[in-house]
Amino acid sequence: MALQDTLNQMLQEAAQAVREARDASGLDELRVRFLGKKGSMTQILRQMGSLSPEERPVMGKLVNEKRAELEELMEARRKALVEFEKRMRLASEKVDVTLPGKEPAVGRLHPLTLVQRRLEEIFIGMGFEVVEGPEVELDHFNFELLNLPKDHPARDMQDSMYITDNILLRTHTSPVQARTMLTHKPPIRVICPGRVYRFDEVDATHSPVFHQIEGLVIDKGIHMGHLMGTLETFAKELYGDGVKIRCRPSYFPFTEPSSEVDISCYMCGGHDDHCRVCHGTGWLEVLGCGMVNPHVLEMCGIDPDVYSGFAFGVGLDRLTNIKYGITDLRNNFENDLRFLSQV
Ligand code: PHE
Repeated sequence: MALQDTLNQMLQEAAQAVREARDASGLDELRVRFLGKKGSMTQILRQMGSLSPEERPVMGKLVNEKRAELEELMEARRKALVEFEKRMRLASEKVDVTLPGKEPAVGRLHPLTLVQRRLEEIFIGMGFEVVEGPEVELDHFNFELLNLPKDHPARDMQDSMYITDNILLRTHTSPVQARTMLTHKPPIRVICPGRVYRFDEVDATHSPVFHQIEGLVIDKGIHMGHLMGTLETFAKELYGDGVKIRCRPSYFPFTEPSSEVDISCYMCGGHDDHCRVCHGTGWLEVLGCGMVNPHVLEMCGIDPDVYSGFAFGVGLDRLTNIKYGITDLRNNFENDLRFLSQV
C-alpha cells in the first residue's frame, strides 16, 4: 500500500529530525512541519479519500498510532533538551562560595594632601580661616603689592614663569596675603595653601611646581612674639612637645624684620650625625616669615599706624618629605600607585 509507505517514510524522516533537534524552537518547527494543519501528516490524511472503504479504517488507525508515536518522540526529546539546557545553565552559573573574596582597591589621600589637611587643622584650631587665590596671577599681586616693584633686585630671588608681561604663574602664596588685605578688614587671621611655580630644573630636590602654605595675621598690637608663639605652637602640634624652633635673620621685601625659622629635628633632636631626617644638622629649615612691611600694609589699604601683622610661608613639600621619609621629590608628582599606597 503506497500510502502506508509514504507514512512510514515520513515517520522515519520525522524521527530522525526530532533526534537531531538542538533546542525547543527547533522542535516546535518540526511539530508544525509534520503534525501541523498544513503538515505532512495532514497531507497523508487528505489522500485517504483515494483508498477503498475497507482500507480506510485500517489506514486511519495506523495514522493515529503513528501520530501518537511521533508525539511521544517529540515529548521525550523536548524533556531531554530542557534537562540538557538546565544542566548547561547550572554549570555556567555555578559559584564556588568557598573561594576567597576579592578585596576592592581603595584609594588613599596623597601624602601632600594629608600633611596639608593636618596643617589646616592645626591653624584652624588657633582661629585661622583657610582662603585660596589664583595660581595664574597678576604681577601686581605677586610682586608689586609685596614691595617688589619692577626692576627690584629681589625679583631675581624667584625665577618666574611669565605668561605675558603682566601675568605669571604665582611664584609663592604671598599674593593671597595682598588679595586678602584688600578684601578683608582687620582683624585678619588666614592661611592660604596652594601650588606655586618657579623656573627650576626637575631633580630629587627641585621641581618647577611645589606647594606652600601662607599665613597672615593683622590686628592692633601684633608683634614678633605673636609670630614666634604661633610658629612654636604649630611646630609642637606637628612634631610633638619636645621640638624647639629657632629663627635666623633673613630678608623678604614684604616683611620687616624677616626671619627664617627652623624646627629642631623631631627624629634625633640633634643627637645623631647620620639622622636621615636632618642629616646631622639637628634642624629642619621649613619656613620664611616676618612682620608685614608697613609699606605693604599701606599699599593694601591698611593703616600701618593702627595695625601691624605677621606673615609666614611654609614649604609643604619639605614637611611632607620629612614626615614620610621621602628622599626624591619627584615621587610626589609622578602618581605611581605603588608609591602612593605606602602612606
Ligand atoms: N613668600 C616667601 C617665599 O616664597 C615666604 C614668606 C612668606 C616669607 C611670608 C615671609 C612671609 O620664599
